Amino acid sequence: RIVYRATLKQLSGLYQKKLTGACSQTHPGFPSSSVCPSPSSLLTPRRPFSLGDPALLEASVTAEIDCGDVGVLPGFVTEDESESLLVEIRRTLRGKRYLYNHWDGAIEGYRETEKPVWGEANPPVIHRLKQVAEDAGGEDVRALDEVHVLDLANDGFIRPHIDSIKFCGDVIAGLSLVSECVMVFQHEDDSTKWIRALLPPLSIYIMRGRVRHNYTHAVPLTGEESGFKGQTVSREQRVSVISRTRPPQHHNHTSH
Ligand code: OGA
Ligand code: MN
Repeated sequence: RIVYRATLKQLSGLYQKKLTGACSQTHPGFPSSSVCPSPSSLLTPRRPFSLGDPALLEASVTAEIDCGDVGVLPGFVTEDESESLLVEIRRTLRGKRYLYNHWDGAIEGYRETEKPVWGEANPPVIHRLKQVAEDAGGEDVRALDEVHVLDLANDGFIRPHIDSIKFCGDVIAGLSLVSECVMVFQHEDDSTKWIRALLPPLSIYIMRGRVRHNYTHAVPLTGEESGFKGQTVSREQRVSVISRTRPPQHHNHTSH
């Protein structure tokens, strides 16, 4: 069972505790502002990374400052690489039915798997994806061995949630395949702060720091919620391949 996602309710206790206390340090890699980065992002110095194409982001004025923690890089894989990944993903997911949780889970209309080992032409692409997650995390940050494959059906969608800090570190990097979609980020305590990202097929998105910890992320169905810069973006099946960094003090399964 895959347990990356925690509901806000499950997290609220933890977050109240973690976010109290004044933050007076300056943080390399962050624009100077009164916004305090999330506690875990204080642990590692960050190499600056290219944020990708700013045209693929849209943010409310109050959220603009946090855009340093999210980016979309178009054309991260070629059509051929995408096709090769999809062949292996279809084979791995064959026979799994799409799951519908009837409103009690973070996600509807999906199949998923965790895949530590890839074959054929795919390992170099998976390696590149993990490398992006690690680079965005800073020194000594490692990606989880397994990547997470999520196949959303035409009518599948992801509700706003924050990935559990128990199973996922500071960075989430996801490759989007098949059809484009919009990812919506909203600050968990301040609804005026939102960021929308257009995720074309073959692109990757990166979220880290404040956006990963303090904003929910969601992939809505086609409709009003899925708009980007005033245009409706229609979505069909969408497959993502996600690399997450290890949480601090992550123990792998063989160590206990
Ligand atoms: C998740 C999630 C995003 C994506 O599985 O927790 O948010 O890009 N997925 O599929
Ligand atoms: Mn998530």
